[in-house]
Amino acid sequence: MKVLCLNGPNLNLLGEREPGVYGATTLETIRERLEEQAAARGVEVTFRQSNSEGELVTWLQESRRKYDGVVLNAGAYTHTSVALRDAIAAIRIPVIEIHLSNVHAREDFRKQSMIAPVCSGQISGFGPDSYFLGLEAALKCAQACKKNEDK
Ligand code: DQA
Repeated sequence: MKVLCLNGPNLNLLGEREPGVYGATTLETIRERLEEQAAARGVEVTFRQSNSEGELVTWLQESRRKYDGVVLNAGAYTHTSVALRDAIAAIRIPVIEIHLSNVHAREDFRKQSMIAPVCSGQISGFGPDSYFLGLEAALKCAQACKKNEDK
């Protein structure tokens, strides 16, 4: 199995960015731990971050032929991006929406997710563990997809 983990704007600043909200763990540390978790499960994980909406759209489009599932922390684009939503709707592999913080316990504008209706599910509020739970969810969904294809 191959899983793509995509990170949106400002997540490159984790560790120094609003530590009271997002914690002290850097994105690099999350990447290392996720790769360890994936290796232990015999899964290949590719980890990417971009501040650019277009680049995230391109990576989502490309993922449909290369990966079995996507773990996506779209950052602020979660709440605004029709382009990301359309890209997710266009691909058949499962996409799991994740957030470090509990977006439902924050400002009203964060309670709205543009992408949630086209994702397989949402994991929000578990800090870096949201990534690890997201990987497990992506694997489960990808296996379910494969089973349906085999039928
Ligand atoms: C975030 C939540 C978003 O609302 C915010 O814009 C982010 C990070 C999270 O991981 O908690 O950049 O996706």
